[in-house]
Amino acid sequence: MYKKQQQILVMGLGYIGLPTASLLATKGHKVLGVDISIDVVDTINSGNIHIVEPDLDILVRSAVNSGNLRASITPDVADTFILAVPTPFRKVGGNPRAPDISYVEAATHSIAPYLREGNLVILESTSPVGTTERIAEILAELRPDLVPSIPIHKTSSSVYLAHCPERVLPGHIIRELVDNDRIIGGINRASAAKAQELYSSFCNGTTFITDSRTAELAKLVENSFRDVNIAFANELSLICDRLGINVWELLELANKHPRVNILQPGPGVGGHCIAVDPWFIVSAAPEESRLIRLAREVNDSKPNWVVEKIRAKAERFKNPVIGCLGLAFKANIDDLRESPALEITRMLIRENIGLVMSCEPNISEDFREFPIYPLADVLTEADVVVVLVDHDEFKQIDREILKEKVVIDTRGIWR
Ligand SMILES: NC(=O)c1ccc[n+]([C@@H]2O[C@H](COP(=O)([O-])OP(=O)(O)OC[C@H]3O[C@@H](n4cnc5c(N)ncnc54)[C@H](O)[C@@H]3O)[C@@H](O)[C@H]2O)c1
Repeated sequence: MYKKQQQILVMGLGYIGLPTASLLATKGHKVLGVDISIDVVDTINSGNIHIVEPDLDILVRSAVNSGNLRASITPDVADTFILAVPTPFRKVGGNPRAPDISYVEAATHSIAPYLREGNLVILESTSPVGTTERIAEILAELRPDLVPSIPIHKTSSSVYLAHCPERVLPGHIIRELVDNDRIIGGINRASAAKAQELYSSFCNGTTFITDSRTAELAKLVENSFRDVNIAFANELSLICDRLGINVWELLELANKHPRVNILQPGPGVGGHCIAVDPWFIVSAAPEESRLIRLAREVNDSKPNWVVEKIRAKAERFKNPVIGCLGLAFKANIDDLRESPALEITRMLIRENIGLVMSCEPNISEDFREFPIYPLADVLTEADVVVVLVDHDEFKQIDREILKEKVVIDTRGIWR
């Protein structure tokens, strides 16, 4: 039976690790959150947060005030270790987008000295196939006294190891952490069963057990499914533009078919997940991943297309002022990672297409790359208004103000 109050250590206190650590703390577990950033650690220990996510501030404050959540830059002994560190891509040889699991490897090295017999190690980071086995190899090297046994049929281990990929939607993380179904991929059966006990203690969703490699690929496939479908929508938006058809109306009508559900086009695809994870599959099986690669290329080329649209419209003005609404990769969050809105704004500035006035209500004053303007100023000054993110603030703009302006709405908020 799962111990009611466990000591849980969460490595990486970002968008995934911090909500997970706080939730576990509010469920009565003693949680130590570890991050390499001293600023992150100090912010959390003071009951504050460093990222924008609805209701996360309340959850973290209550977890810290209860005495169950503490942050540190140094790990400690625990019953369960959860790794929620970044897994970006990087250039390796001729592959510009090879998966970078160095953060996972570093976190594994950091926790290794603290592991004890019977501990459970969970990899939550989205990972290329084989990463959980790589953790097992590292632990076997560093702690030969506690070798996690790899074969799936093994029913006992001295250290249990599983991959439990995270599926939460930014902006809804707290609810989805609890309500989503989870895939639990054990390095062996005993590990899967042990991890399942933990997730069952705080998840309302169903937990499904498999091996670690299947769990790793399942997460990558989920995001690739979305990427391929968004690429289809983005391609349709280009076709519609050429044919003079309103893509939003087209999609609304096509989706009336009982078995059609086309996703929405946009200025591209961003974020730490959908824009990144499909490359992990392409890297692992380049010859077989033709559609997945092409979808990535279609989505990655959309920002260029948007810039060309803006350029064509801006040419009508002598000294054009271009108002860019939004920088985040999706609505109502502050996350700029791989954001097409940021990429488009950067391109407009770099190519000197006009005076660029960017507005992003969700980022702090720490953003210094270029000036950020209040929405009212952008709406007053801009000749061309470009909707790059469908933040709620933008949806509430009075259309009357835009009457005299050129509007490019990449998100279809004014379809
Ligand atoms: N953000 C999402 O919506 C989302 C959704 C599903 C899965 N994921 C996956 O979850 C993982 C984490 O993503 P995130 O968005 O939380 O990243 P993040 O960048 O917000 O947070 C990661 C944190 O880990 C810290 N860190 C880096 N190396 C460390 C180390 N060796 N030890 C301790 N801390 C370390 C960083 O300082 C950072 O605070 C990634 O694999 C990502 O693909 C993210």
